[in-house]
Amino acid sequence: MLREFVNEPFLNLKDELVINNFKKALAQVGEQLGQEYPLIIHGQEIYTEEKITSLNPSLSNQVVGYVSKASLEQAELALISAEKAFSTWSKVSPQERAGYLFKAASLMRERKYELSSWLVYEAGKNWAEADADTAEAIDFLEFYGREMYRLAAPQPLTKIAGELNELVYLPLGVGVVIPPWNFPLAIMAGMTAAAIVAGNTVVLKPASNTPVVAAIFVNILREIGLPAGVVNYLPGSGGAIGDYLVSSPKTRFINFTGSKEVGLRINELAAKTVPGQRHIKRVTAEMGGKDAIVVDSSADLEAAATAIVASAFGFQGQKCSACSRAIVVKDVYEQVVNLVVQKTAQLSIGPAVDNHPVGPVIDQGSLQRIKSYIEIGKKEGELLLGGDTLESMGGYYIQPTIFGHVSPDAVIAQEEIFGPVLAFIMADDYNQALEIANNTEYGLTGAVFAQERSKLEQARKEFHVGNLYFNRKCTGALVGVHPFGGFNMSGTDSKAGGRDYLLLFTQAKLVSEKL
Ligand code: NAD
Ligand code: ALA
Repeated sequence: MLREFVNEPFLNLKDELVINNFKKALAQVGEQLGQEYPLIIHGQEIYTEEKITSLNPSLSNQVVGYVSKASLEQAELALISAEKAFSTWSKVSPQERAGYLFKAASLMRERKYELSSWLVYEAGKNWAEADADTAEAIDFLEFYGREMYRLAAPQPLTKIAGELNELVYLPLGVGVVIPPWNFPLAIMAGMTAAAIVAGNTVVLKPASNTPVVAAIFVNILREIGLPAGVVNYLPGSGGAIGDYLVSSPKTRFINFTGSKEVGLRINELAAKTVPGQRHIKRVTAEMGGKDAIVVDSSADLEAAATAIVASAFGFQGQKCSACSRAIVVKDVYEQVVNLVVQKTAQLSIGPAVDNHPVGPVIDQGSLQRIKSYIEIGKKEGELLLGGDTLESMGGYYIQPTIFGHVSPDAVIAQEEIFGPVLAFIMADDYNQALEIANNTEYGLTGAVFAQERSKLEQARKEFHVGNLYFNRKCTGALVGVHPFGGFNMSGTDSKAGGRDYLLLFTQAKLVSEKL
């Protein structure tokens, strides 16, 4: 009998014992930096000449690992491997498949500090962010394992005299899993686990900034005895092998999370039928956000400001859920701005290993992109805080940056920046604040701070986002509690961590027998 799903608790990072454990793990993982990681195709380790060099964003001359880079020939081998493994894996019972996820979750729980330490080094996450990423990965495995039990159970159908009817959920086939770097463990593991527990086999192409964390997860799957070929680990260039994998007639579905640009390209490529293809490819694409927190005059302003700071600058604003627009009604605008600026000014900036609230952004390209948005912001609004990069610190650091009096149509109020940049927008009243909140092509997360119930009820109906939060931050969705996914250009609203998610990787078959 399975125990009911509960979320993995976060570490108490004020506890001395926990702090010491974390420091020990960071030191141990520090000793393992700079190793080489092979491709894994049908259980075979393949070292290639060409490598991806994964760097520590906090200290950009420190190599986290050298990861083999797949060629198109190896991409084809990985698809063949997944196709071969599908013929047996799809016949393994759903309960046994779920068992692999539970085993992996249990091993990850034992190795929690170690996994979080890899996230600190490779993604530049501070300890709390790294711990949340690891906990979410464990949650996905535990949750999707239980979901598979639910889908494998007899499904409710309307009874009819003289017939026996049954509906079963079957896997689709070979999938390509393409995760982003910003939740390198949780999203990558969740996207992979959901696909395989449903009976599919996959080619996992990790994000090029965080391939080492993915390699460690794949090694955990090998350690628990997942059959060869069920997950094939294939790091490589998104443009080169990504296009190849997506276009292949062997590919039945693509599970993508990342930017709007890449998601739309994948959607377009996948829609084109190629010779030898016998199915319509299914695309799950979770993409960007331009998320807003709306503050009404009835709000608890202190709580609103605290939530805005956490949502805008947690992990340096590099979350699809991050608050990049604070929309405040005019009678409390100055108060909220002042509180947010004061609180943000207190955040220290430094290496993730030293657990600063603000660490680096992921790489030089991101730093340059964010810097150029800051320059645009200087023309579009009033610079209230930050505005500079801190490259002399040895990593990709940018000051948390706040702009005031930004117009709702400004570039920095419309385009996803994916960095520590917050735009304050003043609204004449609450109705206008909601209109501004809805006025982007995205629709991922949003939050409203108001104490008047009618204001919250209005937002419940009118604020058009996949994840809407009242009187709390707009980041930090929990598996099972807050199924996650967005509207419009934020994606296909797949609701990761929810009861609809596994259905995306199955096809339902109805069998009807006349009695
Ligand atoms: P990205 O789109 O640059 O890359 C995502 C993945 O796609 C990577 O693995 C990359 O290697 C791969 N890729 C790149 N080009 C490809 C191609 N032509 N074909 C196939 N794959 C290709 O995104 P990113 O920088 O890794 O992540 C940041 C983005 O992800 C942001 O826009 C963020 O909002 C979004 N995101 C969304 C969610 C969500 O649930 N909606 C969650 C996390 C991140
Ligand atoms: N699921 C992540 C969050 O809610 C992106 O912040």
